[in-house]
Amino acid sequence: MHIRTKLAAGVLALAATGSVMAAGNVDNGKKLAQQHVCFSCHGQDYKGMGTFPPLAGKDAALIESQLKEFKNGERKTPMAGVMKPNADKLSEQEMADLAAYFASLK
Ligand code: HEC
Repeated sequence: MHIRTKLAAGVLALAATGSVMAAGNVDNGKKLAQQHVCFSCHGQDYKGMGTFPPLAGKDAALIESQLKEFKNGERKTPMAGVMKPNADKLSEQEMADLAAYFASLK
């Protein structure tokens, strides 16, 4: 339910900004993921580790909207504070690139 709502919101956001938003670049997303050591929490293959959720194979629009919600403080889950500093460093284009990369993984 919750995920579905978020997904719908992400798709709507995409549709609304579609004309100005560049598509995510998978290769650049891979570089960014390594630079920002996302794997240190999300696991070597981004398949999750303990309490850290998996990123591999998730919908790109969903990942992107989640990253924005960490950065702008909309996400207030108990663990959001652990993730927020990672999202704070990212531009919208970088979020789109990372999202495209994770979505491309199996
Ligand atoms: C210090 C550990 C840490 C690092 C490094 C980290 N994350 Fe996270 N991440 C978390 C935690 C903890 C959560 C779960 C937060 C919550 O429950 O609200 C999370 C959640 C997420 C989510 C939402 C997933 C979901 O299913 O809800 C995304 C997307 C995400 N991280 C992307 C990234 C990206 C991209 C990077 C690298 C730029 C990164 N993370 C680096 C700890 C980390």
